[in-house]
Amino acid sequence: MLGEQKVSYSGVQPSGNLTIGNYLGAIRNFKQYSEQYKTFYCVVDEHAITVRQVPAELRRRTYETLALYMACGLDPEKNTLYVQSMVHEHAELAWILNCFTMFGELSRMTQFKDKSAKHADNINAGLFTYPTLMAADILLYQTDVVPVGIDQKQHVELCRDIAERFNQIYPGTFTVPEPVIAKSGMKIMSLADPTKKMSKSDENANAVVYILDDRDTIIRKFKRAVTDSGSEVRYSPDKPGVSNLMSIYSCFTGKSFEEIEHEFEGKGYGDFKLAVGETTADALAAVQSEYNLLLADKAGLEAQMKKGAEEASYYARRTLSKVQKKLGFVQLH
Ligand code: TYM
Repeated sequence: MLGEQKVSYSGVQPSGNLTIGNYLGAIRNFKQYSEQYKTFYCVVDEHAITVRQVPAELRRRTYETLALYMACGLDPEKNTLYVQSMVHEHAELAWILNCFTMFGELSRMTQFKDKSAKHADNINAGLFTYPTLMAADILLYQTDVVPVGIDQKQHVELCRDIAERFNQIYPGTFTVPEPVIAKSGMKIMSLADPTKKMSKSDENANAVVYILDDRDTIIRKFKRAVTDSGSEVRYSPDKPGVSNLMSIYSCFTGKSFEEIEHEFEGKGYGDFKLAVGETTADALAAVQSEYNLLLADKAGLEAQMKKGAEEASYYARRTLSKVQKKLGFVQLH
């Protein structure tokens, strides 16, 4: 809570082209808080460097991610939209929280295990302490709710544990946040292997639908999507491919699984996949045209970055100095 207002906070890494997983699992759920809550949505460039990045691409994607936030309907007058590295309190609080986070806790994080298997030549300390930087992001703003996809739930739960531990020693420091996981869209799977999460870092571009893919590409990717044996459109654990497509269709149309099963009764996978492709392309068209306008105005995006960083810094500074005082760091006035 900040004063009387509840707070929503979330972040997205500018580490690749954003996918419909990022959109359905996270970004499109941010807006619902804009009216009632104080909201902070961050482009987390410091998290992105836990894996090697090409500087020019990281810079470009930072602009793009901010533009995409706005294109997805986040009004910068109602939401604080900013870039993590422009608010130095994140890195400072992360160091402090490192001293309140156990080696064993970080070792249990499944994302760390996955990423260190994938980047075996670069298992750096930042990859390991990534969740404490994420906890700092969240706790700096006295956050109540964190809308994320299911893959981030474990990190938000660790953040809760850290906040509770800190509060036990230094009462009243942090609001303890709750993860909010969308019921549909919490885990969109790869189109090539529906047992794997759809991921922006997937090397197979056909496995992933990007928010900015053009209409033909979207339809082609869905046509090629791996489906299951049989020909019936039915939501079931033994049909992971079809079930994933049904989830996507349900997110974009608001239809329940029963309604979708009914709609495609007697029709084959071909009709169904085409419908999913067309619906997705239609839904993304508005986001894409808005995005193109925003991205063309670099100066406008930079002005937004500056404004967002100033707004965020105000709250971040308040929480950090409260923490420093509690810890016994000398405060000069
Ligand atoms: P990131 O950049 O990997 O993903 C951004 C958001 O998209 C969600 N997501 C998905 N949801 C459903 N299906 C998928 N296939 C899918 N892929 C990604 C993620 O769950 C996430 O919500 N550590 C975070 C970024 C972060 C953050 C934070 C989030 C940094 N600080 C503070 C919340 C609060 C990450 O790497 O997300």
